[in-house]
Amino acid sequence: MSFAAIVLAAGQGTRMRSARAKVLHEIGGEPMIARAVRTIASLGAVPVVVVVGHQAREVETALSARFGRDQLAFALQEPQRGTGDAARVALAAIPEGFAGDVLITYGDMPTVSAATLDKFRAAHRKSGAKLSFISIKLADPKAYGRVVRDDNGGVAGIVEYRDANEVERAINEINTGFYLVDAAFLRAALGELKPNNAQNEYYLTDLVAIARRQGLGVAAWIANDPAEFVGINSRMELAEMEATIRESTCRKLMDAGVTFIDPASAFISEEAEIAPDCTIGPNVQILGRTKIASGATIEGTAWLKNVTIGKGTLLKLGVRAEDAVIGDECEIGPFANLRAGTYLEGHNRIGNFVETKKARIGRGTKASHLSYLGDATIGRDTNVGCGVITVNYDGYEKHHTEIGDRCMVGCDTQLIAPVKVGSDVYVASGTTIMREVSDGALVMSHHPQREKAGWMATWRERHGDSPDDNGKRGRE
Ligand code: UD1
Ligand code: CA
Repeated sequence: MSFAAIVLAAGQGTRMRSARAKVLHEIGGEPMIARAVRTIASLGAVPVVVVVGHQAREVETALSARFGRDQLAFALQEPQRGTGDAARVALAAIPEGFAGDVLITYGDMPTVSAATLDKFRAAHRKSGAKLSFISIKLADPKAYGRVVRDDNGGVAGIVEYRDANEVERAINEINTGFYLVDAAFLRAALGELKPNNAQNEYYLTDLVAIARRQGLGVAAWIANDPAEFVGINSRMELAEMEATIRESTCRKLMDAGVTFIDPASAFISEEAEIAPDCTIGPNVQILGRTKIASGATIEGTAWLKNVTIGKGTLLKLGVRAEDAVIGDECEIGPFANLRAGTYLEGHNRIGNFVETKKARIGRGTKASHLSYLGDATIGRDTNVGCGVITVNYDGYEKHHTEIGDRCMVGCDTQLIAPVKVGSDVYVASGTTIMREVSDGALVMSHHPQREKAGWMATWRERHGDSPDDNGKRGRE
């Protein structure tokens, strides 16, 4: 049976007090609209029509980067004249011959689960109603639309808070704004909406009364977890939802065998995979599609995005890594910066103040202190000494450095790329490598060391600095 969806996301969200459209504010590391659309798309709805208005182009860009055009469509609503008007605009993007159910949802309710919507769909089909919507019961129903029931307990209509009388305002069953509507009924009924209400808007909620007038079945499906239907209207609510998501992500991981020293200061993306027996220290952000194998330890203060980490690897304090692969049994940090394209084959040591970028580093190779390794391929079991620099940039282009297996690259070596150093090479400290070095060689570019005996005393005397009777120096 065919099934389409409409996601309402044209509103500005004035209470966010933001120049940015509300649905672009991020939750769990991505715009909240992306999260909402992902859930709907996972149900198999085609097309998913997103109604855009405020910052329409930015919203479209954010979604197009994440979802295929074959499933996603956009409808521009300008000006925003209410939820009913938004649904009408969206219909234009649904093929005329479409004859299934249309799911209508909001882009600012990013925690509604696919499982709940699946149950809602099943109930809707079973009921045979032309229109179903999800309601929840709240101790404090705030300003939500009230579900008015008739004497038989059937749904008579939805009354907006602003249009409700005292008796209606006392009702605690409210409309969440999630509907399933028969496409043919939706097309016909949207044309009948009139903006005769306190806000002079076209209310989608009026569909309920229209259906009832035509003697069509309407069902309210009461969801048992109202928390899923918490919308985001303010920065405070944004932060609260972020905290809720974060807490549940950490809890799931702990249930699955991951140790958190301080879950309150761990920010883990829901897309991250962390294997059992990993230990995550305080103040750690694990973002994007990061994958961490069993037994890895992150001491604390780390920022990792789209990083793969192998078994038993230790990240000491202060590691930043992005789009990188860190193999098994590595020791990274403290204070290391592994930039995009870093690939450590395993058993590597990358120590303090080492920066790597587009660097493939062979098994067992170490760079323990103060180095820049960019656009480089380094073989196995090579030791990169302190202060080694790949000089990869000539002001216009980046060039590649290649170093073989089992080399000793002495401290303070510069490799002027493009350049190649063979295997089993010994680079003396302080060498500037400009030409290819063959396998097994010793390479050095030392200036001969010169010495002038007694030079220091002459220098000091020239500055009027002579020793006193006790042999001390100084010019008071
Ligand atoms: C709506 C419902 C109300 C329900 C509540 C749940 C109506 C008339 N009322 O009220 O019964 O309890 O949601 O949150 O539908 N939007 C557009 N274009 C518009 C207007 C709104 O795209 O012209 C979008 C908004 O961006 C938002 C959603 O629709 O994502 C809901 O709009 P909002 O103004 O928040 O609806 P409420 O008045 O809160
Ligand atoms: Ca609202």
